Amino acid sequence: MDKHIAVLAGDGIGPEVMEQALRVLSAIAEKFGHRFSTTTALVGGAAYDKYETHLPEETKSICRSSDAILFGSVGGPVGDMNNPKWKNCEANSILSLRKTFSFNVNYRPVKVIPELEYLCPLKKEVIERGVDILFLRELLGDCYFGEHRTFNAENGVRTATDLITYDEEQIASIAEVAFRAAQKRRGKVTSVDKANVLDASKLWRAVVREVALGYPDVTLEDMLVDNCAMQIVRDPSQFDVVVTGNMFGDILTDAAAVLPGSLGLLASASMNREGFGLYEPPGGSAQDIAGTGTANPVAQILCVALMLRHSFALETEACAIESAVETTLKEGYRTRDIARSGEDNQKIVDTRGMSERILEHLLAITVPSTAACS
Ligand code: IPM
Ligand code: MG
Repeated sequence: MDKHIAVLAGDGIGPEVMEQALRVLSAIAEKFGHRFSTTTALVGGAAYDKYETHLPEETKSICRSSDAILFGSVGGPVGDMNNPKWKNCEANSILSLRKTFSFNVNYRPVKVIPELEYLCPLKKEVIERGVDILFLRELLGDCYFGEHRTFNAENGVRTATDLITYDEEQIASIAEVAFRAAQKRRGKVTSVDKANVLDASKLWRAVVREVALGYPDVTLEDMLVDNCAMQIVRDPSQFDVVVTGNMFGDILTDAAAVLPGSLGLLASASMNREGFGLYEPPGGSAQDIAGTGTANPVAQILCVALMLRHSFALETEACAIESAVETTLKEGYRTRDIARSGEDNQKIVDTRGMSERILEHLLAITVPSTAACS
């Protein structure tokens, strides 16, 4: 296979973890006989320095001529948000990319690895039931891209509105993705809305139910978003595929992100209807540790696995990366964010040390099994 990838490392820890992810990509190319070429492009504060915009045209055009986008992270130090370089940096970069490439579905898999259970804030007996959830969040509708307006009402009171809009095609499109994903997993879709209040949610629920008729082998459950937030911390094992709108998805995926214990372990994919995708760790630029060489590269490395699976249909290769990561974590290799105080059996490593071990496992894998990790 011969593919071209746009690499947008961005700010903070982005470039450091991206470097490790690209080493893993090269190892896959060599091991499985593929050719992956890359072009780097600027985004976020790094782009602002040169172009005074967070998403330059040149970057968009490099993305347009690629088969997939590998994204690092964007954003500045917490105390420097009024600096024009950092102001609205995340929204300008990420939302514009979503709109430019019509990325309508965000995949956020959340899994708890038994060896890392100590990082999970929930009780052991809750976690032992197993946590393996695929969140599918709609990305182009809702109040994100509806009209935003701030105005003085007739009585002179400052007022603001953000319009929630969904049309049935947007809902049906992500519902289809959810049911197909559930067929390959444990056969259950939980559709999350606020249909007891919002018209947009009533339509959401009706359309998801219509789509469900085409998938009699999948169980559909509707859940109100407030209840879902509660269930995620009460018993996350009940969820297989969770499908929801943009705003609820933003909030619920952050709530669920604490289950594995570190944002450094999570990867996400944003896809459009043509199958073009952007792969990013949802963890942010972590400016406080940037340049120290201690960031956890696992999330960015798992983004490579998601890219191979979703953009290039290379399931065996994706699984090889995922099992190399899992073995490394099971052996006790830990970056600082996932270390356990007082634990003797762990090996504390830096960014490079973690990916070195993952690469060793990757090269050693002979017959990769796809059974456990799709
Ligand atoms: C996310 C982020 C973005 C969002 C922000 C940076 C605009 O929180 O990807 O979850 O709200 O979608
Ligand atoms: Mg978010």
